[in-house]
Amino acid sequence: MTSIADLALLDELREIAVTIACEAGQLASVGRLEGVVVAATKSSADDIVTEMDRRVEALLVERILAARPDDGLLGEEGAERVSTTGVRWIIDPIDGTVNYLYGIAAWGVSVAVEVDGVTVVGVIHSPDLGETYVAVLGQGARRHDARGVHELRVNEPVGIAESLIATGFGYSAERRVAQARVLSHIVRRARDTRRLGACSVDLCMVASGRVDAYYERGTHAWDYAAGGLIVTEAGGHFGGLRGAQPGEEMILAAGPALFAILDGELSRLRADSDETSDVFGPAN
Ligand code: IPD
Repeated sequence: MTSIADLALLDELREIAVTIACEAGQLASVGRLEGVVVAATKSSADDIVTEMDRRVEALLVERILAARPDDGLLGEEGAERVSTTGVRWIIDPIDGTVNYLYGIAAWGVSVAVEVDGVTVVGVIHSPDLGETYVAVLGQGARRHDARGVHELRVNEPVGIAESLIATGFGYSAERRVAQARVLSHIVRRARDTRRLGACSVDLCMVASGRVDAYYERGTHAWDYAAGGLIVTEAGGHFGGLRGAQPGEEMILAAGPALFAILDGELSRLRADSDETSDVFGPAN
């Protein structure tokens, strides 16, 4: 993407993404004061959908189609539409739904835009944190907050022992046991670990240097599409293990050197499997 026409398209997509993410965040914030209604569960009883997830996704879809009626869509709560323009929007109306339910600040509206399958814009608006993260392919990543606009840069610690490593857990008990097994190894070696509860926010924390790395098995494109671009535009690496694309098997985000170390370590631990028995010997 280098021509003036391409740059104009990127500007347009970024502008729409920021506007709708902020409007959606406002709707969710105001709605939260009126009480949160759990509308349904999905993959397990712990995988909840609130009324507000649905209302916010409907608002995002309405705004996207009003601005760009021929674009495609993929949304966590079911929005799906084929694109005839090469542009597709990947949206998570409320990432960190359980945090939203309990009133923990780490939740956000995540809006990513792909052109011909490449993510070119990523916006994550977190109303309770008072932060909006914006990345455009080739143009860097920034955080907008009450103190101004900040260019983002990942940390590059020298090893796992100097690293604060975030992760997350899935919604099935079996998956969580497998993830706890992996974490039992990581926690012995890292400076410390964090479980923030919102994949999109975790990725923003990596991009901001507030944690050094984040990995999780079982997340979806709507959780990580925007955040993945925010990480790479902040100088980090974002992918799966052993050269795989980011996907449900695993996502890993970190500065380049730590990414390589954790890629090796998580591969050794078979973190991209649901292996529950510790066949790797004593945790080390
Ligand atoms: C979830 C959050 C959570 C992660 C889960 C995701 P949701 O998204 O990002 O941190 O551990 O894997 O599904 O359901 O709150 O949109």
